[in-house]
Amino acid sequence: MVKKIFSGVQPSGNLHLGNYLGAIKNFVELNNDNDNKCIFCVVDLHAITVKQNPKELKDNIRETVATFVASGIDVKKSIIFNQSKVPAHSEAAWILSCVARMGWLNRMTQFKEKAGKDKEKASIGLYSYPILMAADILLYDATHVPVGDDQKQHLELCRDIAQKFNKDYEVDDFFKTPEPLIKKEFSRIMSLKDGLKKMSKSELSDNSRINLTDEKDEIISKIKKAKTDSLPLPTNKEELERRPEAKNLIGIYSSLTGIKLEKSIEKFSGKNFSEFKDELSNEVVEKISPISNEIKKLLQNKDYLDEIVINGCEKANEISSKKITEIHKIVGF
Ligand code: AMP
Ligand code: TRP
Repeated sequence: MVKKIFSGVQPSGNLHLGNYLGAIKNFVELNNDNDNKCIFCVVDLHAITVKQNPKELKDNIRETVATFVASGIDVKKSIIFNQSKVPAHSEAAWILSCVARMGWLNRMTQFKEKAGKDKEKASIGLYSYPILMAADILLYDATHVPVGDDQKQHLELCRDIAQKFNKDYEVDDFFKTPEPLIKKEFSRIMSLKDGLKKMSKSELSDNSRINLTDEKDEIISKIKKAKTDSLPLPTNKEELERRPEAKNLIGIYSSLTGIKLEKSIEKFSGKNFSEFKDELSNEVVEKISPISNEIKKLLQNKDYLDEIVINGCEKANEISSKKITEIHKIVGF
């Protein structure tokens, strides 16, 4: 069976190691499999659910495209485009917002986290954000959606919306219910400053994350400063589970090297953090620096990046406008 892969990344700046290990690395693996059809979307409509500086947003859209390409996504084999240039997304989001239920959205933990204490002041867009995400996925009949762990609940909502639409309008199997592709072990990379907090673009301290554009020296310095506890490295998985910072750093090592978690624990068992951190730095630099250099090179060639998106938008428009026409018929427009 041909797998139809769809995923999105917000162009909100500071793409980091969490985005890479939780999502983009998997995009590349899926893209390398010729049996898959892949679509990767720069979700700029999602980005404006919180305030953005327009000039920076424009640059960040290009940087996200550059990151996809620099990470190894083959533009000949996949569609890369930005959401705002494909009108079907906004339109489908409206129609689906009439299918989704308030009660479902009220359960979304990401909204609660992002809106913080003062929910009254959050944008309506931030609240209805998962409906737009469902529209993104359902317009392309995506069968599989690679994401980090934080998007699991949004994907469940997408499945609920698809099923309710199909049932309400008596159109069996019109919207396909997509499967999430979430890596079991490395789908939640934590902050370098706090092993209990997700690594995030919006965290104030730049030392909390490795950005995909960081220079070698910055990477080394951030890993040196990364929080640890005062014990030697754990000797087994049970101990690792109890020590969040060690768990995160060993997890990053294991994910980057492809050495299984158990083997990675064994390799550093009982050693001190400074020795481990040197090896970890080498790995991060080896894997991330080529991407970082390539991003910078690609950003010199804006016309090339814009061309990728223009081509991608054309293809995405072709697919999604057909689906929207069918939706119109079903709804009775
Ligand atoms: P975003 O930057 O929120 O658009 O996220 C893009 C992709 O990266 C999504 O699939 C997220 O689930 C994933 N992601 C973001 N932060 C992390 C993290 N700290 N660990 C793992 N995956 C992440
Ligand atoms: N909400 C996702 C995030 O913040 C990004 C996203 C938007 C997405 N639309 C999508 C991911 C569709 C997968 C499929 O990470």
